[in-house]
Amino acid sequence: MTSQKLDSLIERVDIDLGDRSYGIVIGAGTLGAPGSYAGLPAATTAMIVTNETVAPLYRDRLAVALAGFYPTIHTISLPDGESYKTWESLNLIFDALLSHGCDRKTVLFALGGGVVGDMTGFAAASYMRGVPFVQVPTTLLAQVDSSVGGKTAINHPLGKNMIGAFYQPQRVLCDLDVLRTLPARELSAGLAEVIKYGPIADMAFLDWIETNMDALIARDPKALAFAVRRSCEIKAWVVGQDERESGMRAILNFGHTFGHAIEAGMGYGAWLHGEAVGCGMVMAVRLSAALGLVEESFVERLTQLVQRAGLPTVAPVLDVGDNVGRYLALMRVDKKSEAGAIRFVVIDTPGHASMRSAPDHVVRRVIETSCQAG
Ligand code: NAD
Ligand code: GLY
Repeated sequence: MTSQKLDSLIERVDIDLGDRSYGIVIGAGTLGAPGSYAGLPAATTAMIVTNETVAPLYRDRLAVALAGFYPTIHTISLPDGESYKTWESLNLIFDALLSHGCDRKTVLFALGGGVVGDMTGFAAASYMRGVPFVQVPTTLLAQVDSSVGGKTAINHPLGKNMIGAFYQPQRVLCDLDVLRTLPARELSAGLAEVIKYGPIADMAFLDWIETNMDALIARDPKALAFAVRRSCEIKAWVVGQDERESGMRAILNFGHTFGHAIEAGMGYGAWLHGEAVGCGMVMAVRLSAALGLVEESFVERLTQLVQRAGLPTVAPVLDVGDNVGRYLALMRVDKKSEAGAIRFVVIDTPGHASMRSAPDHVVRRVIETSCQAG
């Protein structure tokens, strides 16, 4: 992973993956700057994949910038929301590609949040056995996490992100200006993934986030620029060592085992992904304390920060009959599970994470406490 300042407004973080390496360009106005697209694979056709909310805001700006590079530009606008991260929506992308006669050089541009990015990546991985794609993330969450690293997927009713592929984009373009139109709830959801990087990898960053939380909530451009860059650097560093999650990359799922259970158990879209991850991190750090790895004071510290980000810290009841049983059943479907045993990302010591299973009675107690806390 390397970082460089291209000018006073634009920075680039490189993710080193051999012949799949690429740059993450971060700055104000990158979306509309033709220079952002120079050097991408040449083709006669580009397909912008976006959704019905983002299209009216940014589709034309992207299309104008792409016009100098691609003679033909098509757009497919998907229904908006996590509940549409499905086979049906994926098929709409394939329908559009096939009906326009798109060939295997066609470049896909994912313009939107993590839902659009994950689905476009999966479509790119499988259309004609693989076409190039570019991530143009428009949510904070997508800029700091989902657009980087090549995880692509759709949901299955029985489990989150269960059908997908590892497939790297050609480039990631983070335009900080687009965050201005993001609803406040979505900004908070993105902050969950920013906070995540502190306890798993960088306590100095956690200190910085604590100091700058008010500026981040107020969308201070400098604070957002630093948060996006540092998050991308940490993610690039982790993915550069373990692209396909055979080990270390799993630490990026801190809070996600509990969080995915919340998302699936509540019904996709009821809680935002970032909200579920925020609450899931509180549960995971509580588990770390219950296992004797971190002090209660660290649980308090992280809980307070998650709260300040505007995120929920009390876990929802998923089943009034057998709430703990429902959590456990959903968590067993997690991709990290092995032979039905749930594996959690825990904090070994602040700034360092690892993966392990935990005794059933401890996990049960953490779920009970988390659903009552507050
Ligand atoms: P999202 O894609 O649903 O976007 C959130 C909302 O904001 C949507 O309504 C969207 O239309 C709207 N929006 C997007 N950009 C906007 C803008 N600039 N202005 C106004 N509105 C805008 O949600 P998300 O939080 O971006 O992504 C969550 C998804 O990302 C989940 O499906 C999650 O599983 C996935 N994810 C993937 C990875 C990965 O590594 N691939 C990592 C983390 C999360
Ligand atoms: N968001 C988890 C990962 O990219 O591995």
